[in-house]
Amino acid sequence: MERVAQEALAMVEDGMHLGLGTGRAAEAFIRALGLRVAAGFRVRCVTTSNRSELLAASLGIPLTTIDELPELDLAVDGADEFTGELDLTKGLGGALLRERVVAAAARRFVVLVTPEKRVERLGTRAPIPVEVVPFAASTAERAMRKLRALPVLRRTTDGAVVYTDNGNVVIDARFSPLEQPRTTHAALREIPGVVDTGLFLGMAHVVLVGGEPTERLER
Ligand code: A5P
Repeated sequence: MERVAQEALAMVEDGMHLGLGTGRAAEAFIRALGLRVAAGFRVRCVTTSNRSELLAASLGIPLTTIDELPELDLAVDGADEFTGELDLTKGLGGALLRERVVAAAARRFVVLVTPEKRVERLGTRAPIPVEVVPFAASTAERAMRKLRALPVLRRTTDGAVVYTDNGNVVIDARFSPLEQPRTTHAALREIPGVVDTGLFLGMAHVVLVGGEPTERLER
């Protein structure tokens, strides 16, 4: 991840406004950015999770809110699956809602992944994480079954229900590999109580794939 994190860092210019994602790949970028900031680089950043906020703050990276910076130059994040069309599944780390808000606010959305996450069809390796308000968890699960998904309410290894930074729950919806991810995304979003899904379609501008050599997919 360090090499693609450095490639993403090379896209950052002094004075830029950045969105910082969540997860291992995003954290590799945040660490690399922290070193650059310590050397005098000036940026202002919005984070997508409390976890990333803590890390960025500990490295002295200047942080603000999306209210203060509704337009970002660049957002950098990871993904759980990617296709050759640069469509993504995200959210195994539970930060999908803020990740979408921040990615959509950015002129360029750069995604850092490892090569084994490449799929022909989304839903092959990962379930589709769906963020749901807690009141609607059971009814949303029933509705997902009608879409022929196998929904599982996300829990910790101790069995406690996982809550997102927004106070919602996550239902991981396991589908057969998706033939029409846009239709699935729309159908999931139609379910009452669903706040968002982990299908990020047509959002990424650049996908940097780690490995030897690294690969750059761009649209
Ligand atoms: C967080 O909610 C996710 O969308 C992450 O970006 C995604 O799970 C990738 O995480 P890793 O970089 O840790 O694999």
